[in-house]
Amino acid sequence: MSGNETNREAELERETKELRAALKAARDEFANVQRSMGQAGGGSIPEQRDAADTARMEQTIAERNREVQVKQEALEQANSELRDLTENLDKIVRRRTQALVESEEQLRRSNDELKRLNQMKREFVSIAAHELRTPLTSIVGYLELMAEGRFGTISKKMERPMLSVRRNAERLRRLVEEMLDVSRIEGDHMVLKRERCDLRELAAAVVQELLPLAETKEQRIVSDLEGCPAIDADADKIHQIISNLVSNAIRYGAVGGTIEVSIDRAPAEKYSGSWSRVRVRDDGPGIEEENLDAIFEPFSDINPAKHHTSRGPAAAGLGLYIARGLVELHGGIIAVKSDPGLFTEFAVLIPGIEE
Ligand SMILES: Nc1ncnc2c1ncn2[C@@H]1O[C@H](COP(=O)(O)OP(=O)(O)OP(=O)(O)O)[C@@H](O)[C@H]1O
Ligand SMILES: [Mg+2]
Repeated sequence: MSGNETNREAELERETKELRAALKAARDEFANVQRSMGQAGGGSIPEQRDAADTARMEQTIAERNREVQVKQEALEQANSELRDLTENLDKIVRRRTQALVESEEQLRRSNDELKRLNQMKREFVSIAAHELRTPLTSIVGYLELMAEGRFGTISKKMERPMLSVRRNAERLRRLVEEMLDVSRIEGDHMVLKRERCDLRELAAAVVQELLPLAETKEQRIVSDLEGCPAIDADADKIHQIISNLVSNAIRYGAVGGTIEVSIDRAPAEKYSGSWSRVRVRDDGPGIEEENLDAIFEPFSDINPAKHHTSRGPAAAGLGLYIARGLVELHGGIIAVKSDPGLFTEFAVLIPGIEE
């Protein structure tokens, strides 16, 4: 019911009440007059005057009665309109509720279908990766042996194509390994081989391995390895996480830039409990705020135009997705902050062993 209709109805009710009160007052007055007429007794002149008063009074009452009737009719009309409106409103609400129920059902069905397709995709990725792995391992193995000259000397002319074939076979092998990691993480099949580890040693090993890659871009890697709690972790997986962060810093960092790898105990005032923390910071172009979540999604490619230049065909966009999955399996946290044009910093926190 609208505010206007409510006001109108209230107004009509008030007016009717006033009219009824006026009617009653008129009737009372009429009764009074009649009473006083009775008390006054006979006499021809007063009788004539009283008859004129009575006639006037009756006319007033008749007028008031008509007014009351008009108001009452208006009130009934308003009531009937109100009933129609309420009925219409009920119909609309019923129709809307029905539509809502139907779209909810549709949503549920699409959701089920999406889940089914997602499951199919996972199975497909897993089967494809497993099927690719065996022949690829053989190809990479034979290529190594050929490069070592086990099947005869490689001619000068063959050296370049051979190098390219080896590099691409290695990229394919990495991609297949990443696809396997994704299907293990998504299917909850990733098993951690936990042992007591020191984050400093793991980070130092990664830096050592990736220094030659950084040199190809004239980058410096500076390490700051402070004391931190020991962690109960899968050393290979932690190595893989740090390796992806440092190789990202090399790949996306500026030529001639500096990459900082720092290890410490996460500050107690910010993180309750005991945490070992690794931070990887570069001074490259950075990541815009609106992309900070997207980079953790699988096959994330926030700079498609640069796909075959800075990223290179080797980059599948799975590294951070896998890193996040692995960090979370360890009960840890991964975070990123960036000021485009200035820096990008990834931080990984792994729970420390309580001594
Ligand atoms: N240090 C960084 N600076 C700027 N952008 C980055 C940085 N690290 C990651 N990114 C962005 O995040 C995206 C996802 O990174 P991720 O490691 O998941 O994939 P990738 O490095 O492209 O491929 P892969 O790791 O699978 O080889 C990258 O494509 C890049 O756009
Ligand atoms: Mg990467």
